[in-house]
Amino acid sequence: MRLALTHSLEAGDRLGKTIYNENGKILLRQGVTLTDRMIGRLSEFHITYVYIEDPDTDDIESHYPITEELRTSAVQSIKKSFATAQDSDTMKKGFVFDKSANEMTSIVRSIMDELRNHKEAISLLSDVFTYDDYIFTHSLNVTMYALALGKQLQLPYSKLEQLGIGAILHDVGKMMVPRDVLLKPGRLSNSEFELIKTHAEAGFELLRSSSQIPLVAAHCAFQHHERMDGSGYPRGLAGDEIHYFGKILAVADVFDAVTSNRVYRAAMLPHEGLEILYSGAGTLFDQEMVEAFRKCIAIYPNGLSVELNDGRKGIVVSQNPALCDRPIIRIFEEDGYEIEQKYDIDLSEQLSVVVKNCDTISVG
Ligand SMILES: [Fe+2]
Repeated sequence: MRLALTHSLEAGDRLGKTIYNENGKILLRQGVTLTDRMIGRLSEFHITYVYIEDPDTDDIESHYPITEELRTSAVQSIKKSFATAQDSDTMKKGFVFDKSANEMTSIVRSIMDELRNHKEAISLLSDVFTYDDYIFTHSLNVTMYALALGKQLQLPYSKLEQLGIGAILHDVGKMMVPRDVLLKPGRLSNSEFELIKTHAEAGFELLRSSSQIPLVAAHCAFQHHERMDGSGYPRGLAGDEIHYFGKILAVADVFDAVTSNRVYRAAMLPHEGLEILYSGAGTLFDQEMVEAFRKCIAIYPNGLSVELNDGRKGIVVSQNPALCDRPIIRIFEEDGYEIEQKYDIDLSEQLSVVVKNCDTISVG
C-alpha cells in the first residue's frame, strides 16, 4: 500500500485503507476500485492523502496506534462529554462534568495501554477519517500525541493520566464559542478571533469547577495557547510561568492542527508539521519538547513516496523505532529510470543517504 495525493488519483486505483466518518461509519471500503465520482467525493471531503493498493507495495502496512473500536468509542465519548458542557447552565456544569470525568479517565487509560503496545513511532496518517466536527477527532489526536510525548519525557504513569485528561478536554471551552465562528472556514475578523480566544479560560473555569477533574487538567485547557516568548493567550505567560503540561500540549495541538485535513487548507505531512515546530522551537515552543516530539512520530510514514539525496526514488516500507527520520525504503527508480528489481535499503545503516524530497503539495 502506498500513500497518494488525492488530486493525483486516477479512476481504476484501488483504495488501500477504509475511510470512515467520525461515527465510525464506512464511507469507502478498502479494496474498492475508485471511480472519478469517488475521487471527486474525496476532494469534497478535503481529504489530502489516501492509501492505495499497488502490487509493488502490497506488503507495506500502516498501523494506527489504537484499535478502530477504541477510536470510535473515544470520539463518541468526547462528543457526549463536550455536549454536556454546552447544554447545562453554568451553575450545574461542574457537577454535570463530574460524570464524564470517570469516562474520560477510563478512555485515557485505554489509550495509554494501547500506546504501550504500539512499538512504532506514531503516525495518525495511517487511517483516513472524515468528520464534520473536527474538534472531537482533534481532541483524541492531541491526547495521543501528548501521551506519546509525555512518555518520551519519562513522565510517570500517574502524571501521564492527568496529562491525558487535560489533553482530551483541552478544547472543551470551544463549546461555549458560537458555532458559526468556530466552524467558519475563512479568515476570522479580530472580534471573531477574540471570541475564539475565550475558549481557553472558559474551559479552565468549567473543568476546575468539577471535583473529579485534576486541577492540572484544567490548567491544560487554560494554558495550551500560551507560548514561550509570551506571545500566546489568554494571559501571555512566558517561559517557566507556563506549566510543563501546557508546553507539551502546545506542541501536540499545533502539530495535529497543521497535519489534519481541514476545510480551508491541505493537510501537511509529518515532516512539514515538524518544520513548523522547529521554526518556533525556543521562541514559541519549548526546545526540549520539540526535540523529544520528533522522536515519537513517524516523520516519513509508511507508504510515503520519497526521493533520496543520491537521486534514487522509492517508498517507505517500515520504521526504525529509534531513528524516526531513517526508515527502510524500497527503491523503485535509479538515475531517473524505473528499475526491474526493486530492493529495500535501511537508512539507519546507510548514514550518508537521507530523504531529500517527499511527495507533497505546496501548502500555502
Ligand atoms: Fe485550543
